[in-house]
Amino acid sequence: MFDNKVILITGGTGSFGKKYVKTLLDRYSPKKIIIFSRDELKQYEMQQVYNQRCMRYFIGDVRDRDRLMQACKGVDYIIHAAALKQVPAAEYNPMECIKTNVNGAENVIAAAVANKVHRIIALSTDKAANPINLYGATKLCSDKLFVAANNTVGEQDTRFAVVRYGNVVCSRGSVIPFFQKLVAEGATSLPITDERMTRFWITLQQGVDFVLKNFSRMSGGEIFVPKIPSVRIVDLAAAVAPKLPVHTIGIRPGEKVKEVMCPEDDSHLTFEFDDHFVISPAIHFNKETREDYSQNKLGEQGKPVASGFSYNSSENPVFLSIDEIKRMNNLE
Ligand SMILES: NC(=O)c1ccc[n+]([C@@H]2O[C@H](COP(=O)([O-])OP(=O)(O)OC[C@H]3O[C@@H](n4cnc5c(N)ncnc54)[C@H](OP(=O)(O)O)[C@@H]3O)[C@@H](O)[C@H]2O)c1
Repeated sequence: MFDNKVILITGGTGSFGKKYVKTLLDRYSPKKIIIFSRDELKQYEMQQVYNQRCMRYFIGDVRDRDRLMQACKGVDYIIHAAALKQVPAAEYNPMECIKTNVNGAENVIAAAVANKVHRIIALSTDKAANPINLYGATKLCSDKLFVAANNTVGEQDTRFAVVRYGNVVCSRGSVIPFFQKLVAEGATSLPITDERMTRFWITLQQGVDFVLKNFSRMSGGEIFVPKIPSVRIVDLAAAVAPKLPVHTIGIRPGEKVKEVMCPEDDSHLTFEFDDHFVISPAIHFNKETREDYSQNKLGEQGKPVASGFSYNSSENPVFLSIDEIKRMNNLE
């Protein structure tokens, strides 16, 4: 699918982008992979690892529509991964987060439509479902923009979809590296925000593979949600430091006890497939008949979920055991 194609990754120097590039290079022979991001140092460092002939490095800001217009010339596929994603930073700098995550999304859409890009997938997060913090709210706006963008394509074969998933194992600023740091500093107990707290848990490779697959599945307008396990925060602490006790510090601003990926209020729009869910668009696009989202372009068949169904990290049927957490995070 990506052989001899031109692929642009906004935020290509981030954790997701680098893994996506590695996977593309391992499995396909793309014509060009364009990395689009702001910081020249991150790009320089990435070039030391990925300097294949197909690699192109564009300095640019998703807030800058003209630069995106230029970068998207001749592009077949876009993965929109650029974002400001730290919850506290978004609370303190709301307009900065809005400019990158919302206006940036709008610019990516405009550049994709103007350049007749074939397929675009934007990355989203569980924090966008029933958001309670600004980061989540901006990602919900971004999701809505990408879904509605399918209405602006007219007759051209440009389609937009969203992939939403939860915490990435050991990503920058995540809890396991934090616990490990405390242990290394000689902590005598580990801080837990709330004993009931649960989170979805996905590896970077699983996230990358899910995005790759959804380029073949999408009709346009879907929010794809993978079925992934949950973890209990207390089990994460036990996996990092089995002998240390925990102490409760209380929930932090903008944090939830459980995360939601498919909200109850969207249950009438949600289809369950073998290994994922699809939240279909609430709006109809400019077509005579509504797309049938119960079957995807790979011919996989889904079924509507029960009314009131919610896919959330506390009622998830699959939880990782402490041993599985250790194995998944190389803690053995
Ligand atoms: N990590 C997780 O746990 C997680 C979970 C669910 C969803 N997601 C979503 O997955 C996506 C990728 O996350 P990640 O973990 O790879 O993030 P990351 O490691 O923080 O990387 C973010 C990337 O975006 C770029 N960027 C930031 N602002 C930009 C701007 N204004 N214009 C252009 N590029 C910009 C950054 O490079 P520069 O700073 O050089 O511009 C960097 O390349 C995000 O959309 C995030 O919301 C992440």
